[in-house]
Amino acid sequence: MVKSSSSSGYRMMGGNGLFFPILGFACIIAFIYLSFGDLFSVPVRYTNESNLSFVERNGSNFMVDGELFYINGWNSYWFMDHAVLDNSRPRIRAMLQAGAKMGLTVCRTWAFNDGDYNALQISPGQFDERVFKALDYVIAEAREVGVRLLLSLVNNLDAYGGKTQYVKWAWSEGVSLSPSNDSFFYDPAIRIYFKNYVKTILTRKNTITGLQYRDDPAIFGWELINEPRCITDRSGDTLQDWIEEMSTFIKTIDNKHLLTVGLEGFYGPKSPKRKTVNPEFWAADMGVDFIRNSAPSTIDFASVHIYPDQWFKRKSLEGKLKFVADWMHSHIEDGDQVLKKPVMFTEFGLSDLNKGFDPSQRDEFYKVVFDVIYKSAKKKGAGGGSLAWQFLVEGMEEFNDDFGMVPWRRASTYRIITRHTCKLARTHRTVIPATGNINNICNSK
Ligand SMILES: *[C@@H]1O[C@H](CO)[C@@H](O)[C@H](O)[C@H]1NC(C)=O
Ligand SMILES: *[C@@H]1O[C@H](CO)[C@@H](O)[C@H](O)[C@H]1NC(C)=O
Ligand SMILES: *[C@@H]1O[C@H](CO)[C@@H](O)[C@H](O)[C@H]1NC(C)=O
Ligand SMILES: *[C@@H]1O[C@H](CO)[C@@H](O)[C@H](O)[C@H]1NC(C)=O
Repeated sequence: MVKSSSSSGYRMMGGNGLFFPILGFACIIAFIYLSFGDLFSVPVRYTNESNLSFVERNGSNFMVDGELFYINGWNSYWFMDHAVLDNSRPRIRAMLQAGAKMGLTVCRTWAFNDGDYNALQISPGQFDERVFKALDYVIAEAREVGVRLLLSLVNNLDAYGGKTQYVKWAWSEGVSLSPSNDSFFYDPAIRIYFKNYVKTILTRKNTITGLQYRDDPAIFGWELINEPRCITDRSGDTLQDWIEEMSTFIKTIDNKHLLTVGLEGFYGPKSPKRKTVNPEFWAADMGVDFIRNSAPSTIDFASVHIYPDQWFKRKSLEGKLKFVADWMHSHIEDGDQVLKKPVMFTEFGLSDLNKGFDPSQRDEFYKVVFDVIYKSAKKKGAGGGSLAWQFLVEGMEEFNDDFGMVPWRRASTYRIITRHTCKLARTHRTVIPATGNINNICNSK
């Protein structure tokens, strides 16, 4: 915690705060080193933190420093939450360092916690400074390690408050609403709550770095909402209107960062692809449409999730993997030909609750995802990257779900991930954080 500086929230980290991150990090390095010896035989050199530049877009490609940028990255939704308390804070650095060592360049995480335990937003417009400092810390750490963050601004689901919490707040303030939690999208008062929230985040001055969030290139971009669905308006008009209003609003405050919606990627009722590409018939009735929602000029790149276990009740692994490849090809084709924007697969996961699950199946799944991205990267296509759902460090099993893992626990999985880094880097000189040299990660078999 070199950065404890003078900011009051960090003073309490004194002794232990300094010790545990070093210990935690040392354990991880020792473990990785023991397991993958020669992979890390070259000393690590860190990116000069003041040297990070903004990620940009040129047509259907991400660009950084004038180079094409294809992303191998991951999700750790829990960063802000765990940065609040001294005893869990070292996990953020440990995870970022470990991600950087795998050559991962972008991590997606929550920049919201609405009304839940350790809430950032306690009630509309009321923020807990202690938690805001935790988010400052997460961003400062990412910056130091050279990993960029994709920050999501609200949840469609109930975890950490989500749109349901906004609707409860409006009720309690006497706003008359339809009982549906889709009122989050319809109600003008709630739209104002959300805009106020967004403005506070974007203009937040980081107490550690001194930079406003909107000026910090360590932030890869913003995501409007995690997995939006608005089933009370299956035409999709309501969600579309909300996306246009919110994305326009964000661009008036922050024109430097990329912006995405946070979609799962379903095709809507008017799309011809709803029948051939959507997982099943229900997917067209979620009030979303991948093409239409991703089309506004204020949306810089498209987002897609991949959950074959959740989307199909019965399908063999082989059938699921076939679906995954088709699903990805279809969206990348949309990015190349229709949207002319990058497409990022911002979550992909395979559940370990499946009957007969074996970790080797997850390896297979990861390989399919990586192969599709690599093929697109070779053609300078719109398949801009993928973010695994989800990675954790040791000792936090209770925060896992059936998709998550500690990626260095299984050598074959670890190798599949780092090999993807290396293939991308050899193709486009992808910017690798922290290591300074791609050979650090890639010079072993
Ligand atoms: C990092 O960048 C700053 C400003 O560009 C420069 O002054 C400093 O010397 C650099 N540090 C290293 C270690 O390269
Ligand atoms: C910093 O950026 C410059 C140009 O953008 C580049 O030439 C240099 O290698 C970078 N330095 C580091 C340490 O990444
Ligand atoms: C942007 O993309 C176009 C077309 O793909 C290409 O001709 C141009 O060189 C690219 N610009 C930069 C700065 O890479
Ligand atoms: C919305 O509200 C219903 C109850 O009205 C609840 O069951 C559901 O979990 C809430 N959240 C979402 C994301 O639908």
